[in-house]
Amino acid sequence: TKTLKVALLGAGNVGSQVARILLTDASALAARTGARLELVGIAVRNVDAPREVEIPRELFTTDASALIRKADIVIELMGGLEPARTLILEAIEHGATVVTGNKALLAVDGPTLYEKADAAGVQLSYEAAVAGAIPILRPITDSLAGDKITRVMGIVNGTTNFILDAMDSTGAEFADALAEATRLGYAEADPTADVEGHDAAAKGAILASLAFHTRFALEDVHCEGITGVSAGDIAAAKEAGYVIKLLAIAEKISVPTGGQNNDDGGTFTTGVSVRVHPTLIPREHPLGAVRGAYNAVFVEAESAGELMFYGRGAGGSPTASAVMGDVVSAARRLVLGGPGRSDSTIEVLPVLGIDAVKTRY
Ligand code: HSE
Repeated sequence: TKTLKVALLGAGNVGSQVARILLTDASALAARTGARLELVGIAVRNVDAPREVEIPRELFTTDASALIRKADIVIELMGGLEPARTLILEAIEHGATVVTGNKALLAVDGPTLYEKADAAGVQLSYEAAVAGAIPILRPITDSLAGDKITRVMGIVNGTTNFILDAMDSTGAEFADALAEATRLGYAEADPTADVEGHDAAAKGAILASLAFHTRFALEDVHCEGITGVSAGDIAAAKEAGYVIKLLAIAEKISVPTGGQNNDDGGTFTTGVSVRVHPTLIPREHPLGAVRGAYNAVFVEAESAGELMFYGRGAGGSPTASAVMGDVVSAARRLVLGGPGRSDSTIEVLPVLGIDAVKTRY
């Protein structure tokens, strides 16, 4: 079998779970890809930092550039703009396939990175950057590629959904619900990017770019967070049959050519509006049922109609699942130049009697 050398940049929550999967599921991954995925090293700032997963010490290095030069596939999970941007550019230049979960970097500098990757003929994939474990980018770019998406509405930040849900179910004020989110470990020590909507806006820019085949950056996204939402707002919404959710919305709209407040007599300009703001959702809408720290993305397309994708939008293991999906696809492409083969060893069970399948979920 062919061996593909994998370099991991970053061993935080997500990175250490990716290392765990690469180290413990090696034979399943080899069966699925036709290649041995060899983790050749993990670049970190501090080799001795405590980690959640036991990883052989000799895999760690502080020399990310040297590691990249050894790799066929580079997985960037450091987060932040630098040095992530420089290292991804080094990986592209070296000709390695790149997998990243770095929504902040993609939202600010995605267009440059996509162009560099295209020009170099290397694959850059980032399913983990939006809504963690939820497969949403590939459905938008592949499964719905023959349809026309008209609107995407996402609950793409778990922290704010947890806070709004707590306010809705307990009547708490924002500050108390935020304190609870922090106590339970959902909110970061500095929750600004979550509660001000910046994290959701970064994900909205990525969703909008893929859904509407154009390139949106963070600066194109109107952004309003949830710090101004009061217990009174939530109660009034509830009274009227609504729930308040922080949504990232990307939709095709037509506005009078003379501007929104200036109807010039019937000519319209069609464009895409991308925005993040607290939104009133009917309680019976599928997005209204998304509780706690979960994420969901609701997609409307001309032929497909309405679709909803739901799951865990954050956390080490769930996000690592999305990263590994990209790694396996990349490996299949590198091995076969195609979508790969299925190599299941799961047994096919005989059809069970109806009593056996009357399971309650
Ligand atoms: N802080 C983010 C959230 C993590 O709460 O959803 C995933 O980007």
